[in-house]
Formats: sequence, structure tokens, C-alpha cells
Amino acid sequence: MKLALKGGGKIRKKPFFKWPMFDQCEKKGLLEVLESRRWFSGYLGGDPGSKVAEFERKFAQYQGAKYAMAVSSGAAALEVTLRSLGIGAGDEVIVPAYTFIATATAVMNVNAVPIIVDIEPNHLCIDPEAIVKAITFHTKAVIPVHYGGQIADMERLIEITTENNLIVIEDAAHAHGSMWKGKRAGTFGKAGCFSFQESKTITAGEGGIILTDDDGLAKRARSYRSNGREEDRPGYEHHRLGWNYRLTEFQAAILLAQLPRLEDQVKTRTKNANYLSQELRKIPGFKPITDPPGTELNGHYLYSVIHEKQELEGVERDRVIEALRAEGIPCQGGNLPINRSPVFKKENWEKAGMSFYSRFLEREFDVSKIKTPIADETFEKIIQFSQHLLLGDKEDIDDIVKACQKVSENASELR
Ligand SMILES: Cc1ncc(COP(=O)(O)O)c(C=O)c1O
Repeated sequence: MKLALKGGGKIRKKPFFKWPMFDQCEKKGLLEVLESRRWFSGYLGGDPGSKVAEFERKFAQYQGAKYAMAVSSGAAALEVTLRSLGIGAGDEVIVPAYTFIATATAVMNVNAVPIIVDIEPNHLCIDPEAIVKAITFHTKAVIPVHYGGQIADMERLIEITTENNLIVIEDAAHAHGSMWKGKRAGTFGKAGCFSFQESKTITAGEGGIILTDDDGLAKRARSYRSNGREEDRPGYEHHRLGWNYRLTEFQAAILLAQLPRLEDQVKTRTKNANYLSQELRKIPGFKPITDPPGTELNGHYLYSVIHEKQELEGVERDRVIEALRAEGIPCQGGNLPINRSPVFKKENWEKAGMSFYSRFLEREFDVSKIKTPIADETFEKIIQFSQHLLLGDKEDIDDIVKACQKVSENASELR
């Protein structure tokens, strides 16, 4: 069969599952908030009786945490958590190279230094042995990212961080519902941070949340997200340098409508991803990223495969993506390793008020010297499919398989 890119027929003629999704529940919730004239959740956020408080309670229960504090974004969740844990100037926080920039910029926004380390190639999460090598006298915390929905190696990570007295903050922006050895993402460390931005697996367009079992952290996080106000004190008293990072009642109404669907959607994506991996393993050139052993559910914010050039007649990854898209399969490359991002260039770093020479660290901090070969290789080779492609039925997944098969069989046409 001729490739669609070369004028042949497309494999996929219909659109995939549309995201974001909504039905009458979102409409009803939004109208209810509108007509109630209670659009804001209170000066501390999450006042009793608010939609925000109801969502916090239900999301904490679903993930398996004692407290949840809703905030305006995933990045805000990380910043509030870091500051609530007392992390600031002079502290180092270890983060993976393969993630969204906010994992590191949240650290910089509380004046601490992100120490970027490599990932492991099998599940694309932080490499625990790279953490061991990066620990210094100044290290305070580690932020593992559950990349794409795969849970980082939390067993080894907790071992390392316990031994070295470090705090673990999980960046679970990709992992709503993911479950590993009976526990869900965001409940392994001191805190778990999630995003509800539009592409995420439960969304209000924007939004975020912090999970924790720690009473003190929960209390401080509520204060920091609300301009440093304090419970049982007047609203004009400000006790800490905080932000206004509150979620609105409209956003909470949408999230409350979405939450009851989440578990079924996580199960559907887990099942479809397993079937897709089983079929792709038979096709030369497309190597699926695997789930860590012990995975029960993978929320699959992303489904990733590694492009094996030598199996595809030497055809470049971007050309393969072009060919798949022409077949009607939306897909994309991956994140630039964050250490290669311009934000870390000396002049940008200094503009942000950060010093390249840290008087606390007593050494020059130069991100360009950091080597992350696995993250670099992943960036060159990865092909990613968004979560909503996995929300359909077997026929949808078969179309992805057929398109990969067709590209693999006709790779020579793409040279
Ligand atoms: C791994 C990771 N962390 C943090 C964030 C930040 O979330 P937000 O965009 O809601 O600030 C994202 C967003 O895509 C992300 O992918």
C-alpha cells in the first residue's frame, strides 16, 4: 500500500476521541456557580461549602492522601510546596533533565538551585544512581517526575533520600490515577504536585493541586497560596511572602464533573496502551516504552515509543512522524532536555536575579556543563502519542498499529 505522504490512501479517516471532553455535568456545574454568585473559594481558598473544598476532598480521597490544596497551576503547586517546606536560597534540589521546564523553574522561583540529572532509558524517569552522584552538602530535596504516567523508581528513591535526609516532592503532572504496588502517584513522598492544564488527563483549562499527609505542610501551603494569610486570623493580616495562586469555583465545578470519569479513563488507557505495546513490539522500528515492574495502572498522559532508525532504513525520526501524521495519526517529538533550554544561558539566568556564581554553593553553577546523554538520546528518538488517542476502542488502537506497520514496511520510500 502506498504511503499517504506519497499520495496513497490514509489509514485513519475519522478523528480520534476529542479532548478536552465535557457533557451536561460540566455545563450544570458551571451554571450553578454562575447563578450562585459565589465565584471565589474564600480568602484562604477552599472555604467550607465551596466547590474547591469539595474537589480537594474528593481528589485527595481518590489518590489516597490526607490533604489536598488546589492552586492555579502545576507550576504553582511545585512553588507553594517548595516554599512551604522551607526550601530557598542556598538550597539545591535535584530534578530530571527530561521533563517540562516548570519542574526546574519552580525551584528557581523560590531562589533555590535546580541540579539537573539524567533519566533512565526504560521508563524515562529520573535515574536514582544519578541522584546519588549529585547529592552535596546543600541538597535539600529531589523532585522525581512520573514521566508520561510511568511511576519513577520510588523504592530506590526513598531508600536514597531516607539515607541522605532529603525531602521527596513528586511531580505527578503526568500521572493522575497511575498506581504502582497499590499506591497512587503523589502519595510516595512528602508531597505530590499535579497539573490540570488543558492537555492533562483531568482538566479545567488551567489548575493544579498539592497532596500531602503532613498537617503542617497542608496548613502552610494554604497560607502561601493565599498571600500569606492564616487560618482564624483577619484577612488583611499577611504572615508570609505568598502568592494569589487560588483556583476559582468555576474551575472546581469543571473538575468535579470530570473526576468521576477519571478512574474508568485511566483503566481504558492502561488497557489500550498494553495492547498497543504488544502489537508494536512485532513491528520493526517502533520500540514502546515499558511500564516499571509493579505498575497496576498507568494514567498515560503520554504514550511514548522509541524510533529505531536502523530498523527503518535509516529514515529520520521527524520524517517518520510526518508519515504517521499523513496517515491520520497525530503524534509528536518530545521535550528538549531542560538543561539545553535558553533559560539557563548565563545572561537569562542573571536577568532572573540568579547568580551564576553561588556564594552559598561556593562554586560556579554552569548548566551547559551538565551532561545528560540518555535525555539527549530520548529527545532525538522519541515519538509521542497524546492521552486522548488511547481513550477510544480497539479499532482506534488498530489504526495506530496499522499506520506504524505501513510506515515500517514502506520506510525505503521515505528516504
Ligand atoms: C512534568 C510537568 N510538571 C509541571 C508542569 C506544570 O504544570 P502547569 O502547566 O499546570 O503549570 C507540567 C505541565 O505540562 C509538566 O508536564
